[in-house]
Amino acid sequence: MILRFYRRTGGAGSAPSLPPSFSSRVWSPGRDGAPPSGSRRLGNWVWWAFERLALFSRPGFLELTLWREDRLAHRLIVTPRWFRFPFMGAADLQVGDVWTRPELRGQGLATLALATVQALTDPDDRLWYVVEDDNAASIRLAEAAGYRLVGAGRRTRPLGLAAFGRFVLAPLETVIAGRG
Ligand SMILES: CC(C)(COP(=O)(O)OP(=O)(O)OC[C@H]1O[C@@H](n2cnc3c(N)ncnc32)[C@H](O)[C@@H]1OP(=O)(O)O)[C@@H](O)C(=O)NCCC(=O)NCCS
Repeated sequence: MILRFYRRTGGAGSAPSLPPSFSSRVWSPGRDGAPPSGSRRLGNWVWWAFERLALFSRPGFLELTLWREDRLAHRLIVTPRWFRFPFMGAADLQVGDVWTRPELRGQGLATLALATVQALTDPDDRLWYVVEDDNAASIRLAEAAGYRLVGAGRRTRPLGLAAFGRFVLAPLETVIAGRG
């Protein structure tokens, strides 16, 4: 599967307001410790351990969740560089695991979440967004949020094991030349 690699700078603006009956929560293991109720999924315990063991290139991991009453409506995470993403700089961040509850899609929640994250970052930060080439909704989301395509690539599978794979980026000029 071909992947698209998007990037933009951080900072800009204040967090947008939420629609009525929605609330948001930012969980940052470096600041808040173990995952709170509602965020105790296995993956978050892994991220918590990553932060504790200093396996990220910098502090800054966070999970943003949007809630409608008590139901999770949207979730995304922001990760610093770790071994699967060698194309990132040590100070870079990546937005990932972006997910909106199916019945709430197309209502601007992911756009709102990206803008919220944007307001939490610094102008010096570089933010990445990696998406599969056939994910039209996610591509539109990234492009509408100001991310620019910088290259394409793939995920490696050493010895056939996806779990140990890395995300390999080829610069846009190389991709275009290869197609030409
Ligand atoms: C991708 C996803 C997070 C988008 O969430 P969402 O809350 O529906 O997004 P928004 O409503 O904020 O829409 C963002 C943009 O995408 C567009 N969009 C939404 N669904 C779309 C679709 N199926 N096809 C094309 N564009 C779409 C919207 O029109 C909007 O663009 P606009 O600002 O120009 O109008 C959601 O579809 C999802 O959870 N998908 C499954 C998980 C996934 O693929 N995550 C991304 C992994 S990289």
